[in-house]
Amino acid sequence: MQYFSGRFKEAASDLILDFHSSIHFDKRLYRYDIMGSIAHVRGLAKMDIISKEDGELIEKTLIEILESIEKGEIEFCTTYEDIHMNIEKILIDRIGDVGKKLHTGRSRNDQVAVDMRLFAKDEVKKIQSFLLELIEVTTELGEKNFETYMPGFTHLQKAQPISFGHYMFAYSEMFKRDFKRLENAAELMDYSPLGSAALAGTTYPIDREFTAAILGFKGPTLNSLDGVSDRDYLIEIMSGLSITMMHLSRFSEEIIIYSSNDYGYIELSDSFSTGSSIMPQKKNPDAAELVRGKTGRVYGDLMALLTTMKGIPLAYNKDMQEDKEAFFDAVDTVKGCLQVFIGMVKTLKVKDEVLLLACNDGFINATDVADYLTVRGMSFREAYKITGAIVSYCIENSFNLETLSLERYKEFSYIFSGDIYETIAIKTCVEKRKSLGGPSKDSLLSHLEDLNRFIAGAKIDLINYRLNDIF
Ligand code: ARG
Repeated sequence: MQYFSGRFKEAASDLILDFHSSIHFDKRLYRYDIMGSIAHVRGLAKMDIISKEDGELIEKTLIEILESIEKGEIEFCTTYEDIHMNIEKILIDRIGDVGKKLHTGRSRNDQVAVDMRLFAKDEVKKIQSFLLELIEVTTELGEKNFETYMPGFTHLQKAQPISFGHYMFAYSEMFKRDFKRLENAAELMDYSPLGSAALAGTTYPIDREFTAAILGFKGPTLNSLDGVSDRDYLIEIMSGLSITMMHLSRFSEEIIIYSSNDYGYIELSDSFSTGSSIMPQKKNPDAAELVRGKTGRVYGDLMALLTTMKGIPLAYNKDMQEDKEAFFDAVDTVKGCLQVFIGMVKTLKVKDEVLLLACNDGFINATDVADYLTVRGMSFREAYKITGAIVSYCIENSFNLETLSLERYKEFSYIFSGDIYETIAIKTCVEKRKSLGGPSKDSLLSHLEDLNRFIAGAKIDLINYRLNDIF
């Protein structure tokens, strides 16, 4: 059957119908499509472009179609290309000519644009609620481990002592920014393109403020060419999602390293690990590896849409249909990864004794030895040189800074006295670092207040957001 009856004399070939068709993936927009149609039809009736009775019949039938779809009674068909035409066809089948009035003053171009914005708004909120849950998990785990001392790294070489709490709060901060990044994107895209029509608006006296308000947008978009051809909001969300994946991937990498035999800093719960089919002793961090691997997918989705959009002239072009699979894949992947992470981090065991033991090698308190001399009047550069010589001596003679005798210390500088040992104790080294953002318990307590304030506020915002629904 040929949908575009009138202009065409020959039916489209099956090959081309299949090629054009997006119904197998855009059918997941059905709810948003029906919402957009209801807002449109209410607008038409309000402005007397169609009669109130016709408007009511169309709205009632669209709601029935929604119910039929949700009950699984509808089979969509590639002949009608996409979700928009499928639903319109079902409407016309059910109420005949009145159904044909729905598309007055509208085009699939503004229809798809409005569907995608509604979908994207809801998906952003769903992802934000997972991010918030993850922030709560890292924050709680951090709070329990203010005094679980561990080596901090640079270049994956032991650098200075920190605490596991300090380490977890670093991720709370990253995920907080990810949350805010999505918030900004949602704010920027919160305008309705409905009424942009094909590209040049319409001659009908439509009320775009009215339809935008029905759909819960802040207002209508202000240029019809832009309204139908803008996909930058999807790109912006996917950029945000790529950054989230980058954070998850770094965290994954650490989980993999820290749970390895040689480190043993943490242990993943059995429920978030896998075994090997041949090696009975194995407990693998597959979930973390898969998240790290899936990061590439989300970057790929972002690159795909950026590349699709870069060369297409205003306004709508069919290329833009390619936005959907990329965007769907990105949001589905991120939601899956976040859920896995929430469970994985919530159940991981922190091996505090191993962590403390790991502080004993690697000379992670060497900076504190240098600071000891500096505080007592030596220039930092001189102190740095002397401490370097002490470290080198220790390495050659199998000492560490704690086990080197005071006599030896004094050979390097007369300034050293018995309080050096207390000064370079790991606990002292961490707790002395009270600078804002530092690892001491005092610094972390004030950071915790800030995080809890953020969590409480974000929770209220999310509770107040109602997923798009006008029924
Ligand atoms: N399925 C199309 C898409 O996703 C809907 C818009 C079609 N418009 C058009 N003029 N062909 O982009």
